[in-house]
Amino acid sequence: MDVGIIVPAAGSGQRLGGAVPKQYRLLAGTPVLVRVIRMLRAAFEDAAMVVAVDRSWQDHAEQLLAEYKGSLVVTEGGSTRQESVFRALQHPILAEAEIIVIHDAVRPFASVGLTHRVVEAARQYGAAVPVIPPADTVKLLDANGTIETTLPRGRVRLVQTPQAFRRSILLEAHQEAAEDRFEATDDASIVEYAGYPVVTVEGEMRNIKITTPLDWCLAEQIVQVGCT
Ligand code: C5P
Repeated sequence: MDVGIIVPAAGSGQRLGGAVPKQYRLLAGTPVLVRVIRMLRAAFEDAAMVVAVDRSWQDHAEQLLAEYKGSLVVTEGGSTRQESVFRALQHPILAEAEIIVIHDAVRPFASVGLTHRVVEAARQYGAAVPVIPPADTVKLLDANGTIETTLPRGRVRLVQTPQAFRRSILLEAHQEAAEDRFEATDDASIVEYAGYPVVTVEGEMRNIKITTPLDWCLAEQIVQVGCT
């Protein structure tokens, strides 16, 4: 299988509150992380997977994902998402992969179809991410919180995961970012920084990133009633 998968899952989930990080919480009886891995397994049956977790949750994650042992490894993440991904990317289990898919452990509603579309675009163009249009107008603020400029809404997009990249591009970009101490909150930004074009595919509204208590409430509704 020429697709390898990285799931950064080493966040502490402070914005949602509570002792258990959101990726381990039960959503209608199933941990969010397990939902994410099931979707990715359904998308790419034989892909090697690396799940980056906080050291204190490593045993728990290994137990949760025991049935995938062999093609899935749980590794220690870093202090930032970027570091978690960069470490995972260097794992030998991904050495043969030509395309790397990266998907947040807190986005349980991305579809198999979306994952396939992103991978096909990455095969063709080298780097691809799903995007959706914002409902609100987006402003750029100065350091005092005063509006500096209004971004043209027609050209603004919110970026989701799964994101997919040719492995060679992603590795080179992460190495360059680490050397330059360039920090970013997603992998597309790192690839952009290295000078590669990143194409977009149409994302999904229900592919929310569970971040706040309101997101959790919405996630429960999505599971229970669908919310299409
Ligand atoms: O913190 P943020 O909301 O950007 O997290 C997005 C994803 O990155 C989550 O799945 C989280 O678990 C992961 N993450 C990580 N290592 C960190 C911080 C976040 O793998 N140090």
